[in-house]
Amino acid sequence: MKPKIYITRKLPDPIVTRLAEVCEIKMWEKEEEPVPREILEKEIQDVEGLYCLLTERIDKPLLNMGTKLKIVSNMAVGYNNIDVAAATEKGIMVTNTPGVLTETTADLTFALLMATSRRLVEASHYLREGKWKTWSPMQLTGQDIYGATLGIFGLGRIGEALAKRAKGFDMKVYYHNRSRKVEVEEVLGIKYVDKEKLLRESDFICVLMPFTPETKNYIGAAELSLMKQSAVLVNTARGGIVDEEALYDALKNGDIWGAGIDVFEEEPVKTNHPLLSLPNVVALPHIGSASVNTRLKMALLAAENLLQGLQGETPKHLVN
Ligand code: DGY
Repeated sequence: MKPKIYITRKLPDPIVTRLAEVCEIKMWEKEEEPVPREILEKEIQDVEGLYCLLTERIDKPLLNMGTKLKIVSNMAVGYNNIDVAAATEKGIMVTNTPGVLTETTADLTFALLMATSRRLVEASHYLREGKWKTWSPMQLTGQDIYGATLGIFGLGRIGEALAKRAKGFDMKVYYHNRSRKVEVEEVLGIKYVDKEKLLRESDFICVLMPFTPETKNYIGAAELSLMKQSAVLVNTARGGIVDEEALYDALKNGDIWGAGIDVFEEEPVKTNHPLLSLPNVVALPHIGSASVNTRLKMALLAAENLLQGLQGETPKHLVN
C-alpha cells in the first residue's frame, strides 16, 4: 500500500507525478491561497508525510494531531515555521531545501542592494508619473556601490555567494557570524569583524542569518543608531530579525539612508504597513529564491526528501 501524503499547495505537475509514483496524494489545489488551518488539522491526521511551504505554521498542537506522521518536508531552506523540537520529540523527521537556492537568493540580495542604493523604484515612478521635466545635477542621486564596504550578518551559503558578487564590484567585505570561517576569509578576501564594527563601518549591511529566538530583533534601535547615515540595510532572510518599528523610525528620521526588504515579520505585509509609506524603502514580496529553475529545483528536492524519509532512508537534508 502506498503511503499517504498531504501537500499544502498546488505544485507543478512534474513534481506531483514524481510523488505519485510512490505515494497516495492529497493536495490543496490553490496556487495563491494557503491551506486553511482547519483543513490542515484534518488532513494531517491521516497521513505519513506532509509536504509544506513556509506559509504553514507547523506547531506542536498540529504535530500532535499527526499521529501517523513520519516526516515534514519544507519547501524552503529556512524552517522557522516548524517547531523542530516538538517534531524531534515525536520522532518526526523535518527536512529543508538548502543549496539549490543559494545563487538565486544571492542575486536577489545584490539586486535589492543596487535597487535601493540607486533608487530604481522611486526613479521609475518619477518617470511614469510625469515628474521628469529635465536632467538636473542632483536629481535622484543615490549611493555608490563600487568600492564601498559591505557588511554581511550571517556567512552561510548565501552570505558567501553574496560576498563573491561584492568582490566583482571591488567592495571591501566584512562579515559577522556565529563562528569564524578562516578558510573562506582567505579564499574570498573578506574579513571577520565584531558586530559593532560591522554596523559602524559598512555602507551596505545585508542580513542573511536564520531566524531563531536568538536572532529575533538582532537589528534594533541600538544597532541602527550605530550605522552610517548614508547606510543601506538589506534583509532577504526573515522579517523578525530586524525590528520593523525601529527600522521605520531610523529611515524616517534619516538615521540611515535606505532599506531593501524582501521579508516581513507578518507576511503578506499589510499595504498600510508604515514601512511601505517611505520612499527610501524598496519592498518585495519574499521573492529571494523566485526564479523558474530554482523554484522547480526546490520543489523537487522537497519531494525527494519526503520520498527518502517515507522509504526508510535518511533524507539528504534532514534538519533534526
Ligand atoms: C527559504 O527557502 O527559506 C526562502 O525564504 C524562500 O525561498
